[in-house]
Amino acid sequence: MTIKKQLIQLPVSDDEGKSISIIAHFAKELNIETYLVGGHVRDKILGRVSKDIDVVVVGNGIEFAEKIAPGFPECSLAVYKNFGTALLKRNDFDIEIVGARKESYRSDSRKPIVENGSLLDDLSRRDFTMNALAISLNESDYGMVLDAFNGLKDIEIKTIRTPLDPDVTFSDDPLRMMRAIRFATQPNFRIHPQTFSSIQKNKGRISIISQERISDELNKILQCTKPSIGFDLLFKSGILEIIFPEFVKLYGVELLEGKGHKDNFYHTLQVLDNVCDRSNDLWLRWAAVMHDIAKPDTKRFEKGKGWTFHGHEVVGARKAERIFRRFHLPLNEKLKFVQKMVLLHLRPIVLSKEQVTDSAIRRLLFDAGDDIESLMMLCESDITSKNENKVKRYLENFNLVREKLKEVEEKDKMRNWQPPITGEIIMKTFGKPPSKEIGIIKDAVREAILDGVIKNNFEDSFNFILIEAKKSNWLPVNEK
Ligand code: CTP
Repeated sequence: MTIKKQLIQLPVSDDEGKSISIIAHFAKELNIETYLVGGHVRDKILGRVSKDIDVVVVGNGIEFAEKIAPGFPECSLAVYKNFGTALLKRNDFDIEIVGARKESYRSDSRKPIVENGSLLDDLSRRDFTMNALAISLNESDYGMVLDAFNGLKDIEIKTIRTPLDPDVTFSDDPLRMMRAIRFATQPNFRIHPQTFSSIQKNKGRISIISQERISDELNKILQCTKPSIGFDLLFKSGILEIIFPEFVKLYGVELLEGKGHKDNFYHTLQVLDNVCDRSNDLWLRWAAVMHDIAKPDTKRFEKGKGWTFHGHEVVGARKAERIFRRFHLPLNEKLKFVQKMVLLHLRPIVLSKEQVTDSAIRRLLFDAGDDIESLMMLCESDITSKNENKVKRYLENFNLVREKLKEVEEKDKMRNWQPPITGEIIMKTFGKPPSKEIGIIKDAVREAILDGVIKNNFEDSFNFILIEAKKSNWLPVNEK
């Protein structure tokens, strides 16, 4: 096989240029074939910002890295013997160095059998033609782009294609099927039909990939500008059914007595894209993914009324935890945030339809707290009608809700509000130990303030607990 060579002028920052010259200097000095490879080369050609530099040497990568390390006194060197790679860590970008490899895989494992190889061996074991380009740092053809698999052409025609038979490339590392879909989502390339058929054929192999790597790739798809492209491809390839069956259950429309409901799969994807237009927050994007996740579980047909999904927000919040656990996503405040969004996602819509009372707004502010803006973004994104006038009308109603939220927040400061009476105060006032009753009285104060029955101050709240406690025949300590 011949490797095509082409000189292409690529933009290089001062820092990159300096680093590359140092590497090239050592390559000459040590007489070792050295190349820039991988995502760095691809992104340069695509004109995208590329952070890290990947270097392949034909020989021992770790030894080469140790020899060039003195040329980078400001960097620390990390060596990963198991992977045969070394990392020069800089503040702004890392330089990863590896020896050219030839890999073969057993069918029951992702762990390759690795041997030293030529540049061509190394490039041919990579995932896609666009990622199998190299730039020479050797004196004889310095700066030339080396293209063994028509990667430049594929970049030009925006095509994702494997350098070898796709069945071999995907079987070697099944995560590459998700990587193909991610690259089809951004930079919005199309997957070559033969490559896509192979993904459909090999989808089952995704099950040998660790959940962490799968979630990582899913998060990268979610961070694209239009993740719906990726989710739709995951669906059509059959991978989504394996990694996220709950999401696939949203697909489809049922008709009874002439009444249908929307296809919640495509609705959710639209909501997701809408959220992405408004926010870069990964967890709000996850909330969009989950907001209707329990619709299939709660779906009922009510005679004369049509389809209902009562309580899907409550069941959905519970389901979100199970899904986060399976995906090994953080079970901390990120999950809590997603659950809160799922649980509250119908509330602003209800408010936008009704005459809004101050107390309803206060309640929403109290329940959403600092996440009120995220919730509003999710709810606005949830309007996916094809009727543009309807969408416009809803959004206008949401603007009214927003105005009201601002007004009430300025007046009542409900966002991070805590009722003026604590359980501690109630116990001290009535000389009682902690009990269920204390909690009941405390909650009653909160509800009375939220409903506007009493004012949000200590005095009114204190008088209120005296009345509440009397119902249980409790007297303040100083009156006993
Ligand atoms: N690679 C591969 N198979 C994988 C992962 C990576 O063949 N499963 C190869 C590709 O040539 C890739 C290079 O290793 O370009 C570097 O990998 P990585 O840094 O993970 O990916 P990038 O392509 O740089 O893109 P991104 O960082 O967006 O994942």
